[in-house]
Amino acid sequence: MKKVIIMASGNGSNFEAICKYFSNSKEIKISHLITDNPKAYVIKRAKKVGIEPKIIDYSTFKNKEEYNKALFNYLKTLDFDLIVLAGYMRILLEHIVKYYKNKIINIHPSLLPKYRGLNVIEKAFNNNEEYIGITIHYVDESVDTGKIILQKKIKIEKYWDLEKVEKEIHELEHKYYPQVIYKILKGGF
Ligand code: GAR
Repeated sequence: MKKVIIMASGNGSNFEAICKYFSNSKEIKISHLITDNPKAYVIKRAKKVGIEPKIIDYSTFKNKEEYNKALFNYLKTLDFDLIVLAGYMRILLEHIVKYYKNKIINIHPSLLPKYRGLNVIEKAFNNNEEYIGITIHYVDESVDTGKIILQKKIKIEKYWDLEKVEKEIHELEHKYYPQVIYKILKGGF
């Protein structure tokens, strides 16, 4: 059985979609949820599916180095095959990324390298982009720059508002992220 850790900071709709996709799997199991945010809605979603969330509260640490130290110490106690970042809004420090090279993936709601960083759906929408999309990529030492695994794009129809664009993006994410996780763990990428 392959084991997956999901890390998330907020709502957790991707977490839920991934859990649902693998809920009857005999090959792949979502074994842990880690969050840096004690108020994240993903905590409720985890409890609902029987996963005890691990909260490493960022606000209780002196700085990002101390937080990353605690996170790394915790990760080292776990047995797993892949770390999946799903709306995880902290930057993993270089030593963690290097230690788990090719074992951490992320999803980002833009067609990278366009629109790195935060609030990118809104930025793309306000810039009247013709296409939007998602990128699933390996995590490297920088932000939103790792090797791309999959991108999916859709055309923004003229009558779509921001809410509709966000909905379309999330639908893409929920559809493709679990499939990519499956393929990676089955050696398909
Ligand atoms: C997702 O759209 C994900 O692509 C984005 O956060 C959202 C989390 O939604 N991630 C990033 O922007 C990372 N840079 P969720 O909490 O409902 O899964």
